[in-house]
Amino acid sequence: MNIAIIGSGYVGLVTGVCLAELGHKVICVDIDREKIAKLNKGQVSIYEPGLEELLKKFLKNKQLSFTTSIQEATQKSLAIFIAVGTPSKKNGEADLTYVENVAAKIARHMDGYRLIIEKSTVPAETGKRIERTVKFNLPKKFRKTNLREPAFDVASNPEFLREGSAIHDFMHPDRVVIGVESKRAEKMLREIYEPLKPKFVVTNINSAELIKHASNSFLATKISFINAVSQICNNIGADILKVAEGMGYDKRIGRSFLDAGIGYGGSCFPKDVDAFIRLSEHSGYDFALLKEVREVNQKQVTAFIQLIEDKMWIVKNKVVGVLGLAFKPNTDDMRNAPSLDIIRLLQHEGAKVKAYDPQAMAKARKLLKGVTFSRDVYQLAKGCDCLIVCTEWDLFKQINFRRVKQAMNQAMIFDGRNLFHDIDLAGMGFEYHGVGRGHKKIDS
Ligand code: UGA
Repeated sequence: MNIAIIGSGYVGLVTGVCLAELGHKVICVDIDREKIAKLNKGQVSIYEPGLEELLKKFLKNKQLSFTTSIQEATQKSLAIFIAVGTPSKKNGEADLTYVENVAAKIARHMDGYRLIIEKSTVPAETGKRIERTVKFNLPKKFRKTNLREPAFDVASNPEFLREGSAIHDFMHPDRVVIGVESKRAEKMLREIYEPLKPKFVVTNINSAELIKHASNSFLATKISFINAVSQICNNIGADILKVAEGMGYDKRIGRSFLDAGIGYGGSCFPKDVDAFIRLSEHSGYDFALLKEVREVNQKQVTAFIQLIEDKMWIVKNKVVGVLGLAFKPNTDDMRNAPSLDIIRLLQHEGAKVKAYDPQAMAKARKLLKGVTFSRDVYQLAKGCDCLIVCTEWDLFKQINFRRVKQAMNQAMIFDGRNLFHDIDLAGMGFEYHGVGRGHKKIDS
């Protein structure tokens, strides 16, 4: 099928490349000329395993192309995915300006039937608004000749990709959610994804939109729940790793998303939880549970800083080495990364901060002031009074801790992701503190 993707950001680019892998002919659009020029040369501006290889492959066989023209993309395609950004407004609501603009532009260039699919995470009823926008903006000649039959359908097809494993997630979906109001739209969406032989969940547009909100918010709730339990573990001398393991064997609960730490970040959970709270308020329901999920997430960073202050005693003028900056491993994404708050709070207390991340340092440099960036873990460790793990990169498991200890001023590690829980750091002479490992009780 000839498919257009409007918005070549994270979701749009991954979707475009993967739809090409499924055999479709894809044209991706973005307003950013520089980005499009780079993508046309096979250069990716984000770090995502496997993405660049696929991009190059499909540029070469011409199954994938990039343009800044919505007109060209609309005229060449039967199905059009909208994957533009939906940033948060000050009040937490999703700002849908880009979605509206794109819908209007698609409509103005339509010369026959099109299926317009929302892929961006949007509040319920956005599908209806897109439909109205398209109707208002259809060319006059077209409206007159097609009075009886709608010239387009709108559908919702939320994505559930995780950064860092986006290609794998696209190619092996747990489910493909299709929100449609017509048989034709359903048939087309089934055809697009058929090569994956997925489990389809077919429903109306509002329900599809809600599935995405509810899924992300539920996952955020799971994380905040285990983080709240981790605080109790600290207080009573219990071990969160054992608690999560014991809970996780129950198939109704599952072990995933029960990793306690310094909280969730990224471009999705914080924004989507805020947007779901607002959406619920608009619908007449006060989603107090989700407000608490957000609170717990914020408190997790504060509690971690308190732990550092408590164990280090004086933070002022101490040299702190931050291991990992990205909001999670296998990405260079720094959006809402807990490391940002942690570094700023420590700097506020007078600490001197050094940092190392295998992928995210270029992006971090633009966001952080007064941080010394290191070329590797050993340069980072030099002269440090403590190391702080903010991202659980696999690479850090290979660290030569004896070398690290020699380089450090004071052998102390605060592990915000419990990454080194199975390494005998105490045996090597480190003072080691994880999250929710019962430290208060054990020390007293
Ligand atoms: C999330 C969802 O997992 C995807 O299904 C969804 O498509 C995506 O948002 C989106 O809406 O676009 P992502 O933000 O890439 O994906 O990252 P996750 O792997 O879900 O992790 C989110 C955050 O939670 C990270 O900061 C991670 O460190 C944290 N986390 C995750 C925990 O603190 N504990 C856990 O047990 C799991």
